[in-house]
Amino acid sequence: MADPGERSRTFPVTREGIFLAHAAVAPISGPAREAMDAWTQDASRGRQESLEIWKKVRQTREVAARFLGCDWEEVSLLGPTALGLGLVALGIHWKPGDEVVYDPYDYPANVYPWLDLARRGVRPVPLKRNPGEAIGWEDVKPVLTPKTRLVSLATAHYLSGRQPELSVIGPELKKRGVLLCLDGIQTLGVLPTRWPEADFLAADAHKWMLGPVGAGVLMVRKRVWDQLHPPLLGSWNVVSPDFLAQPEIAFEGEGRRYEPGSLNLPGIEGMRASLELLENLGHDDVQQHALGLARRLREGARQAGFRIYGSGEDRGERVITSLVEPPGGWEPVKRRMEEENVRVSWRKEHDGKVLLRVSPHGSNIPGEIEKFLTLLGTAG
Ligand SMILES: Cc1ncc(COP(=O)(O)O)c(C=O)c1O
Repeated sequence: MADPGERSRTFPVTREGIFLAHAAVAPISGPAREAMDAWTQDASRGRQESLEIWKKVRQTREVAARFLGCDWEEVSLLGPTALGLGLVALGIHWKPGDEVVYDPYDYPANVYPWLDLARRGVRPVPLKRNPGEAIGWEDVKPVLTPKTRLVSLATAHYLSGRQPELSVIGPELKKRGVLLCLDGIQTLGVLPTRWPEADFLAADAHKWMLGPVGAGVLMVRKRVWDQLHPPLLGSWNVVSPDFLAQPEIAFEGEGRRYEPGSLNLPGIEGMRASLELLENLGHDDVQQHALGLARRLREGARQAGFRIYGSGEDRGERVITSLVEPPGGWEPVKRRMEEENVRVSWRKEHDGKVLLRVSPHGSNIPGEIEKFLTLLGTAG
């Protein structure tokens, strides 16, 4: 986006400083703010719900479906990610002795729902790998047994940014009849997140989608609707004519099937507007732009003597880069970033080391990466 005026209208955060923390809680876009403001105006005049908003809800399902490569009927509008993943964990008809494979180094939202299934006689099976390494088929294969029902992975790791080898893992799981669940929050909106073998995918809007916190999507493929009973029930997903509770439970169709009650309409509006913006900017252009910035950042950081978390052979491209704490610690770097209003995120690794995580998006420009590298200095 060459025109500075347009950039500052589209991404108001760019007026405030340099924002390089999209893997954390990203700023909402200008269009998202406008859409949410418009909803707020209507809401204050007694129209929280209207014919107009239901059309927008449908558009939200449609634009999300284009990002996910699924049908709009397969998109439920929920959020946060933990709600989507938890709903999957709670809704599957598990049999005692079933096994579920998860990544113990993943973000908590994609760990606890599976661990907790032990209470229901399901065996949670952790992947065995070194933190920071990408997950390959060779990591998944050895832990599969005839009892494996589901494998849950993140489309990109929240610290290393590395993507699992889904183009191989997906088809291999399908061959074995194993369900695939994805936490898509660290790629949806920036990197391709269309995995035909994924049966379920959950993501909140507050990162790469540039939407507000607490609005998100849960994709459930039609082919597995009969395997996932909606575990949360209410007037919205159970057919309830005239708002009267019925003696029988019959589920609504489409994404509503997994939405138990009133929707988070302001949040959904923000998510829709940002997804449409990203789509208009062009999936591929946004992706190439963010990847180019991330590559330059890694190159500069390496030249300055920093170690990249999860280095080694890269299977895929990544937009998230974490730098390993240098011998002298992060304090001087942290101070410089704060003084110059450069927003990055600081995250701990399981071994206690503090990582400096940097995650540029389509809204960033090359000069911002150069400024970041100048402030970073050398590893000393
Ligand atoms: C991989 C991953 N999943 C999920 C989340 C957020 O979860 P939730 O939307 O439940 O707050 C994050 C946030 O850092 C994340 O990195």
